[in-house]
Amino acid sequence: MAMTGVLRPGHAQVRVLDLEASIKFYRDVLGLVETGRDAQGRVYFKCWDERDHSSYVIREADSAGIDFFGFKVLDKATLDRLEADLRAYGLATTRIPAGEMLETGERVRFQLPSGHLIELYAEKTAVGNGLGTTNPAPWGASREHGIAPIRLDHGLLYGPNIAEVQKIFVDVLGFYLVERVLTEDGQTSAAVWLSCSHKVHDIAFAEYPEPGKLHHCSFLMESWESVLRAGDIMSMNKVAVDIGPTRHGITRGCTIYAWDPSGNRFETFMGGYHPYPDYEPLTWTFDNFGQGLDYPQRKLHETFLTVVT
Ligand SMILES: [Fe+2]
Repeated sequence: MAMTGVLRPGHAQVRVLDLEASIKFYRDVLGLVETGRDAQGRVYFKCWDERDHSSYVIREADSAGIDFFGFKVLDKATLDRLEADLRAYGLATTRIPAGEMLETGERVRFQLPSGHLIELYAEKTAVGNGLGTTNPAPWGASREHGIAPIRLDHGLLYGPNIAEVQKIFVDVLGFYLVERVLTEDGQTSAAVWLSCSHKVHDIAFAEYPEPGKLHHCSFLMESWESVLRAGDIMSMNKVAVDIGPTRHGITRGCTIYAWDPSGNRFETFMGGYHPYPDYEPLTWTFDNFGQGLDYPQRKLHETFLTVVT
């Protein structure tokens, strides 16, 4: 697959209730690398194997949740083209100047019918993963601190109008539908998993009456053993765990869902298969959603449907 449009999830900005407690959590328990703080009080992190400056940004606020989710696109010409395509589709876009986020170029922001703010950008300073680009070692000390995921992998967002959201991602941004869960009547989708790449999902949405909600940001682990190790570290640090370790039927990913100190759910995730855009989407019926969520237990955990920030 030629990667020519939207490349990948680039950054998420998440609200936390206690900045200092959250910095300790994300740096020392999740094991992200802190890469900067700005005049607005935001704290920037990256995963150890990411090369761009930052992928996860937190700011202190009175309520938890997500401010925006951003995707990196190939280059500035692609950014201009996608902005024009979004406008032609009927969506309003705004340009946020370069430098408003540390080490990040101009961003194109728009609001989905689900209430979420999505951004596209082409430029973010490459700071590397500390291993160099010539004869690099496979890993370094930063992989050994905390849970230490590889990268920000995807997000799952809850809000209304996900059929319309799917159309925007597929018809305008070049994503394709990988899997879906049908509603109880089988007529529409209760949730959709969308990819802009060779991954089982780069973003997912579930139908929910309240707009703009965060279900989770997901961090990629290298192996099933590293997911289990993440569970050990969560327990050692008294992290509130939601579901897992287990395997999803949907995407086949292996997972733990847990909550940060503010109640924002996050996921440590690995696996899944490798779809292509010509694959027929996989469909889960609502009566089998429990197996789709938690394949071994076949359990539709109540928290999955009801607890969001
Ligand atoms: Fe996930």
